[in-house]
Amino acid sequence: MEANNQITPLGGNEAMQNALMAQASEILDTLLDFKAMMLAYSAAIRQLRTKLEILNTEFQVKYQRNPISSIQSRLKSQVSIMEKLNRKGLAVTQENIEQNIHDIAGVRVICCYVDDIYRIADALVGQNDIELVEKKDYIAHPKTSGYRSLHLIVRLPVYFTESVQVVTAEIQIRTIAMDFWASLEHQIRYKKKITDPEAIAGKLRQCADIISYTDLMMQNIRREMDNEHTDDTDLADEIYQKLKRFDVTLDQ
Ligand code: GTP
Ligand code: MG
Repeated sequence: MEANNQITPLGGNEAMQNALMAQASEILDTLLDFKAMMLAYSAAIRQLRTKLEILNTEFQVKYQRNPISSIQSRLKSQVSIMEKLNRKGLAVTQENIEQNIHDIAGVRVICCYVDDIYRIADALVGQNDIELVEKKDYIAHPKTSGYRSLHLIVRLPVYFTESVQVVTAEIQIRTIAMDFWASLEHQIRYKKKITDPEAIAGKLRQCADIISYTDLMMQNIRREMDNEHTDDTDLADEIYQKLKRFDVTLDQ
């Protein structure tokens, strides 16, 4: 009997087992390439979060106010990546993923006021290592659903030991109010049984309009307060405001 036809302790013959091992090794190589790609996307998320946090703290030191209320981020799951490629009729290859899916690295910035959204977007896009690929202003041009947000597709470099990888990321910037609407609308949309979808869509659009109006009212109130502040010439108050700026915690 030849060596490669011997029955092995695991059953089957040695040749077959070797072939299976070679196949497993190849599959693992593909998975490790995928892992390396996802590492770059997760690093891009971390970099973006840090950049945004720095802008937020800088703003607090300068103006005693946080333009960013919170930052959320997520790495798109393998299943969602495959579903999206499938929807676009594309094969699952790393090239197709990198060229056609822009939201693997997703960062959502929740701002306090509408003008903060543009302030943060401009400050981020103005940075030398950030390349703006696409800007969709769903605040100036809301979606028919009523959805409002500023979407940026950006590219940024990530530095590794032996390489630099330029990675694409999607940043959604919206107010607390816009986020409140989008979160609830998303939940409602995925409810299975809606008897009158048209009526629901109309009501949701109406809610989005009311929320948008409230956002603008709140912004106007803040602007009025800002102006009141600059007119204030009380020296003691001025010193107190400067001390508060000095007191901002930096080790966060
Ligand atoms: P996708 O294939 O979904 O990525 O669409 P797209 O590439 O045309 O991007 P789009 O600018 O429509 O933004 C997609 C993302 O924005 C979604 O994944 C949601 O997070 C958000 N979004 C867009 N439209 C709506 C909406 O009507 N309601 C809610 N709740 N979120 C929305
Ligand atoms: Mg998208």
